[in-house]
Amino acid sequence: MDKLLIEGGTALRGEVAISGAKNAALPLLCAALLTSEPLTLNNVPDLNDIGTMLKLLAQMGVKIARDGSSVRLEALVIDNPVAAYEMVKTMRASILVLGPLVARVGEARVSLPGGCAIGARPVDLHIKGLQAMGTEVSVEHGYVHAKSPKLKGAKLFTDIVTVTGTENLMMAACLAAGETVIENAAREPEVVDLANCLVAMGAQISGAGTDVIRIHGVARLHGATHRIMPDRIETGTYLCAAAATGGDIRLTGTSASYLDLVVDKLMDAGCEIESSRDAIRLKAPPRLTAVSLRTAPYPAFPTDMQAQFMAINTIANGTAVIRETIFENRFMHAVELIRLGADIKIDGNTAVVRGSDRLQGATVMATDLRASASLVVAGLVAQGETLIDRIYHLDRGYEHLDQKLTALGARVRRVR
Ligand code: UD1
Repeated sequence: MDKLLIEGGTALRGEVAISGAKNAALPLLCAALLTSEPLTLNNVPDLNDIGTMLKLLAQMGVKIARDGSSVRLEALVIDNPVAAYEMVKTMRASILVLGPLVARVGEARVSLPGGCAIGARPVDLHIKGLQAMGTEVSVEHGYVHAKSPKLKGAKLFTDIVTVTGTENLMMAACLAAGETVIENAAREPEVVDLANCLVAMGAQISGAGTDVIRIHGVARLHGATHRIMPDRIETGTYLCAAAATGGDIRLTGTSASYLDLVVDKLMDAGCEIESSRDAIRLKAPPRLTAVSLRTAPYPAFPTDMQAQFMAINTIANGTAVIRETIFENRFMHAVELIRLGADIKIDGNTAVVRGSDRLQGATVMATDLRASASLVVAGLVAQGETLIDRIYHLDRGYEHLDQKLTALGARVRRVR
C-alpha cells in the first residue's frame, strides 16, 4: 500500500492547474443512464472514485470511451441495473445510480452503503423521495430494490439538506410524468453543474442553486457535451497548503466564485488573495491568525474543508473553535494532528484548536479523504519527515497530488 513521505518546511511557490470537480463528475457520469444517446463529459478528473463509477456503469451495460480527461458514455441498453456491495462499499456516491435507473428502466437493485468512517450517513431521504414519486421500495439482504413502471412528479421535502439526495431525485424527476418540486434542496454548485448538463440533455429544470428546484418531466432526454466545473475543494486544499507554509501560489482553471467563505476565512487568517475569472493567487503572511468556523450546507462553510482548516489553525496565532454540523464523527484527523504536536481538544461536535509555533513530523494514518488532506497540509509545515499511511484515501479525490505538490516546490514522495 502506498504511503506519502513529506519533508516539511518548504513554502509552496508556483502555479498548478486545478482539476474537474469529483463531486460534480460523479453525478454527471450517472446522468448518462438517463438517455440512450451519448453523453460526453470534459474535464473529468483522473481519480479512483471516477474509475469505480465507470466500472459500475460498465457493469450495467454502459459503453464507455475515455480519452484523457474526456469521457464518452453511451447507455443504449441497460441490461443489469444493479450496484453490487463490492462497489458501493468503496464509494457511497454509487447510490447516485438509483434515481436514474428507476427513471430510465423502471427498476434498480442497489446495495446499501452501510457505515463509513465519517458517521452513519443513511440514504433514507433518497428512498423516501423516490417512494413519493411512486416507486415501490423494499430493503432485503442489504440491497435496496426499487421498482416503478412510470415515475410520477411529486412535491418532495427533505428535512435535512442532502447533496447527493437532491441530485438523485432531480435526475429521476427529469423523466417522471408531470412536475416535481424539491423543497429544502441542496444549493451546492455541483447541483447546479448537474442541472446545467441535464438541461443541455433536454430536461426542464428551474431553481437549481436555490432551495426550491422545479423539474417538469419530459418523455426522453438526448445526448450532450458538458464541461465539468473546477474542484472547489481541491482549490481550497491547495490554498490551505500555501497558507500554512507561508507560500505564494497561483491556481489556474478555477475560480473563487464558489469558495466565498473559504476565501473570506483565509483572508481573516491574514492571507492576500487575488482572483480572476479562471485563476486564484494566494500570498500567505509570515504567521497565520486563528480562524473559527462552523460547517453547514452551501453557501456556508463546507464540511469538506473543515479538516484542512483545522490543520492551518494548529500553527496559527491564537485559538480557533471549529464546529462540525453536517457529519458526526468527522474529527478523526484531530488525533493524528495531535501526533504531529497540535493542541486540539474535542467536545462532541466542537474542536478547540490552540495554535502553536511549530509541528513536528511523525507517522500518521489517513482515515478518510479530507482527513488525509489535512495531514498533508500539516505535514508540509511540520519540521522533519511526516509519513502518511493509507493514502488510497487521497487518491480517491486528489488528482496527481504528489506531482502537483512537487511542482509547487514541496518535498513529497510516494513510497511503497
Ligand atoms: C456530499 C458530498 C460530500 C460532502 C457532503 C456534504 C458528493 C459525492 N459527496 O455527500 O463530499 O461532504 O455532500 O457537503 O457529492 N443524510 C440523511 N439521510 C439521507 C441523506 C443524508 O440523514 O438520505 C444526512 C447525512 O448523514 C449527513 C447530511 O444528511 O449528516 C448531509 O449529507 P449529504 O449532503 O447527503 O452528503 P452526501 O450527499 O453523501
